[in-house]
Amino acid sequence: MSKRTPLIAGNWKMNKTATEGVELVKEISAASVGSHASVNVVLCPPFTALSAVGQAIEGSLIALGAQNIHDKANGAFTGEISASMLRNLHVTHVIIGHSERRSIFGEDDAFVNRKVLAALSATLKPILCVGELLAEREANQTMEVVRRQLEAGLAGVPAAKAESVIIAYEPVWAIGTGKTATPAMAQEVHAFIRKLLAQQFGADTAARILILYGGSMKPDNADALLAEQDIDGGLIGGAALDAKSFTELVRIAAKSLSR
Ligand code: PGA
Repeated sequence: MSKRTPLIAGNWKMNKTATEGVELVKEISAASVGSHASVNVVLCPPFTALSAVGQAIEGSLIALGAQNIHDKANGAFTGEISASMLRNLHVTHVIIGHSERRSIFGEDDAFVNRKVLAALSATLKPILCVGELLAEREANQTMEVVRRQLEAGLAGVPAAKAESVIIAYEPVWAIGTGKTATPAMAQEVHAFIRKLLAQQFGADTAARILILYGGSMKPDNADALLAEQDIDGGLIGGAALDAKSFTELVRIAAKSLSR
C-alpha cells in the first residue's frame, strides 16, 4: 500500500463565476466529498471565486488552491496576485507553471522557479506542473524536457520544505484533448520524476512527495492510472467542472489507497 494519501485537485481554469463556483461546491459536498480523510481534495477556482468558494468549503476537508501567483510580495505589478494575498484568503495550494501559463503567457523555467520559492516561503504548497509537448514526445525528448522543467523549477528548494511540494506530470498533448497517456506511459515518467526527486532530496523524502497525473483524467480512465505505483492522484481540468464526474474521481482515488 502506498504511503501517500491520494490527492484530487480540480483546476477550474477560467471557468465559473463566484456564484457558479459555490453551486458546484454545494453539489460536490452533497456527495460527501471532503468528509473523509482517505483522499485529499483541493479546489482551484479562478481568483475571483476564491473567497466565496473558501467560505463554501469551510468546515469540510476540502482545501483551497489558486491557479497562479506572482513571485514578488507586493508592488507595481498590475493585474498580479501575491502569495500573501492568497494566504489571507486561506488558500493552501497554488498551481505553478501550468503548460497554459508557459505557452500562452510565456512563463519560463526561471520565473516558475521564483514562484515556487515564493509559494514555499509563504507556506503555500506549490503544485509544480511539468510535461512535454507532442513534438517533444515524438522526438523522444520527454525525459529531457521533464528533467529540465523539474530541476529548474525546484532549484534552491531546501530539503526541509520539499515535502510541501506537489508535482503534476501533464503531457501537454493530453490536456483538454481527450487523449490520455496510457497508465504505463505515465508511470514511466512518474518513476523518473521520483528518481530525480530522490537525487535532489533523498529517497525518503522523495517517497513522500505526491506526483499527480493531469491530462484528460476522467472516471473511465482514472482507476487504471491510479493503480500505478507512482501516480498519487490527479490534476483535473474538464472533469472538475462537473459535480458528477469530479465526485466519481474522488471516490475512485479514495478506493485506490486501499489497494
Ligand atoms: P484536462 O486539464 O483534465 O481538461 O485535460 C488538466 C489540466 O490542464 O490541469
